[in-house]
Amino acid sequence: MNFENLMRQRYSARAFLADPVPAGIIRHILDVAQKTPSWCNTQPWEAVVTETPAATQRLRQRLYDHAAAGGEPGPDKPFPREYVGAHDTRRKKCGAQLYEAVDIARTDREARARQMLRNYEFFDAPHVMLVFCHESLGFYGGVDCGLYLQSFMLAALDQGVHSIAQASLAAYPAVVREHFDVPADRHLLFGCSFGYADERHPVNRYRTERAGIADAVTFVRE
Ligand SMILES: Cc1cc2nc3c(=O)[nH]c(=O)nc-3n(C[C@H](O)[C@H](O)[C@H](O)COP(=O)(O)O)c2cc1C
Repeated sequence: MNFENLMRQRYSARAFLADPVPAGIIRHILDVAQKTPSWCNTQPWEAVVTETPAATQRLRQRLYDHAAAGGEPGPDKPFPREYVGAHDTRRKKCGAQLYEAVDIARTDREARARQMLRNYEFFDAPHVMLVFCHESLGFYGGVDCGLYLQSFMLAALDQGVHSIAQASLAAYPAVVREHFDVPADRHLLFGCSFGYADERHPVNRYRTERAGIADAVTFVRE
């Protein structure tokens, strides 16, 4: 696929087939993502990837149990304080599209909570990547890792592999650090579940919208 098609066709997959991605393809995707630019070429992303469904399952069980038991989120990097104006409108629209796709009513809090917990089951994906960054790098380390995430997702799609970025997987960093024996000075930024999308599942059949460039860009002419 060319770059424009990758950008236009990528979407967040929330239902995956069980088939694992061959290790060679996972490594190829990661190798392409290594080309991501970063502040002074520091390349601060430190990724942990479950290469086998068994490894994915062990983390899934651990995280899901923690989240389902009502574990209090304590992300290393604060989640958004509030959503103002258009951010709030777009966030609500994106939530409404998701719940409509899986036939969950606005008022059905229990079903919404269950759907939220699907994050911690990695939407049944056979693989998950957790991305850490040294805490000393602050905001720009996060920027670099965000670029890496996009590279990863596009390189994956180029191999027919779908994915979903998940900040929800950064809600319980202590659990993930302990599970993978990651030092405390590595901050957990996000996760990314990946595998082959179940394209017939209704949750994968809607697409989010984007504002036009007039809403995002100020053009200056003199
Ligand atoms: C940094 C980041 C974190 C995200 N976290 C979650 C998440 O925890 N759960 C989820 O279902 N989607 C998550 N998403 C997916 C967004 O909801 C999605 O990208 C957005 O609605 C646009 O839709 P699209 O990816 O299908 O184009 C995240 C996306 C990004 C970039």
